[in-house]
Amino acid sequence: MSTVHVFDHPLITHKLSLMRDKNTGAKEFRELLSEISMLMAYEITRDLPLETVEIETPICSTQAKMLSGKKLAIVPILRAGLGMVDGIMSLVPAAKIGHIGLYRDPETLEPVEYYCKLPVDAQEREILLVDPMLATGGSASAAIGFLKKRGCHNIRLVNLIAAPEGVARIQRDHPDVNIFVAGMDSHLNEHGYIVPGLGDAGDRLFGTK
Ligand code: PRP
Ligand code: URA
Repeated sequence: MSTVHVFDHPLITHKLSLMRDKNTGAKEFRELLSEISMLMAYEITRDLPLETVEIETPICSTQAKMLSGKKLAIVPILRAGLGMVDGIMSLVPAAKIGHIGLYRDPETLEPVEYYCKLPVDAQEREILLVDPMLATGGSASAAIGFLKKRGCHNIRLVNLIAAPEGVARIQRDHPDVNIFVAGMDSHLNEHGYIVPGLGDAGDRLFGTK
């Protein structure tokens, strides 16, 4: 069974509350999402392996530790996942970026794929699949399915807010994928929106409504 890690850092919680406020405009919403994504990336990358390398300081040669092993790829689910990329990249600038285009059919709530482009060596990378909202879990489950079909098996799902229904869906469909969220909310409403949530993340991010 995959685990769910809820970040309870006060800075993350405070910024998330600002994002939930309906009076927060698109500019501030984008900045807050980027800041929270950076803070989440700091915690998610805590277990990256290090190796010892020889370096020269201005004073002497010494053995120092640097990141080793698997490299990262960040894969946002379009559109709203794009808002999480810059914050994570500011901490891991060597990561490659893939894109998966999905939208939820407003009637059926089922995900429809319209784009997928991954780094050529995506199969060898640790993938951070990012999307602010995990509602029914249909989009994230489908995106993980696309990644697995293309040979990627080392995947972590990173969401800003999750509903219990979405978490249960991922744990059922992809028990190997651990989930990292900034906030765990109560439930979904009859339109598939997270309650209390923050509304439509894509529209608030890009000012399309
Ligand atoms: C939102 C969100 C997720 C999806 C979550 O995207 O960014 O991708 O809904 O819902 P689910 O868990 O029920 O699948 P949306 O389909 O609104 O597309 P957008 O990012 O282009 O606005
Ligand atoms: N997508 C969103 O953007 N918000 C929700 O609450 C659910 C799905």
